[in-house]
Amino acid sequence: MVRVIVPATTANLGPGFDTMGLALDMYTEVIMETGGEGIRITSEGEGSEELSCSEDNLIYKCAKKLFDSVEYEPKGLSVRIINGIPLSRGLGSSASAIIAGLLAAREISAANISDYELLKMATEVEGHPDNVAPALFGGFVLSRMEGKEIIYRKIDVDDKLLAVVAIPEFELPTEKSRAILPRAVSREDAIFNIGNASLLVYSLLMKDYSLLRKAMNDRLHEPYRIPLVPGLEEVKRRALGAGAFSAALSGAGPTVIAFADEHNSESVRSAMEEGFRSAGIESDVRILSLN
Ligand code: HSE
Repeated sequence: MVRVIVPATTANLGPGFDTMGLALDMYTEVIMETGGEGIRITSEGEGSEELSCSEDNLIYKCAKKLFDSVEYEPKGLSVRIINGIPLSRGLGSSASAIIAGLLAAREISAANISDYELLKMATEVEGHPDNVAPALFGGFVLSRMEGKEIIYRKIDVDDKLLAVVAIPEFELPTEKSRAILPRAVSREDAIFNIGNASLLVYSLLMKDYSLLRKAMNDRLHEPYRIPLVPGLEEVKRRALGAGAFSAALSGAGPTVIAFADEHNSESVRSAMEEGFRSAGIESDVRILSLN
């Protein structure tokens, strides 16, 4: 029997579209066991009523992908999913599922597959590495695809930094949130994002959070997603007003993430809840440490 625990992630952090991600203290757990008859999948926790318990379950599909790649055939398989990550909210629930399936299958089959090979398999499924990389390695991970290869580096982030995540009650499928993005961007917007992505890395490395507010501004995805997330601008505005270092859409949304510390996280929490409420939306706002 193997048990894996994989963190939720927040991608983009404003300017790092498809290339930056950070692991959060919120998890999905998978217990996988061989033996018995056929395939048995159960799920409990967040979104369990929505998760498929048949062979099209993402965790199972990823486990099978790994088993097939090493020609391992389990004799009966049970997969128990205990999910703590809200689905379709921009918190990397599918990336965590992909990594959990691959990790559990690697352990069960004792396959000689490196973390890097596993990251490549996960990215093949997800399409971009920004969520799967921190789900696998933890921490703040910068990553970029180069054909089938991935260049990545993990950076240690200050453990005093807290993430305040405002998770609205509605779901936003990632495909819908990507479909709205333009295929081309202007040179000005590209330059703006390159500058901010660089400043963001500096800010986190040097713990210079006075920069974060500007550094997390984005022009490549967030402005286009505003119509899909009622309350987004107001939640950000109120988070900043309550003293957050910065605020941005988490991944493809609709969750909004703000960075704070132990002194202001509680007031940022209430401000973000009120922000969504002013748009007629209830939200679950949690203060999380970074993973
Ligand atoms: N970088 C991705 C996006 C994250 O913003 O669409 C969600 O998968």
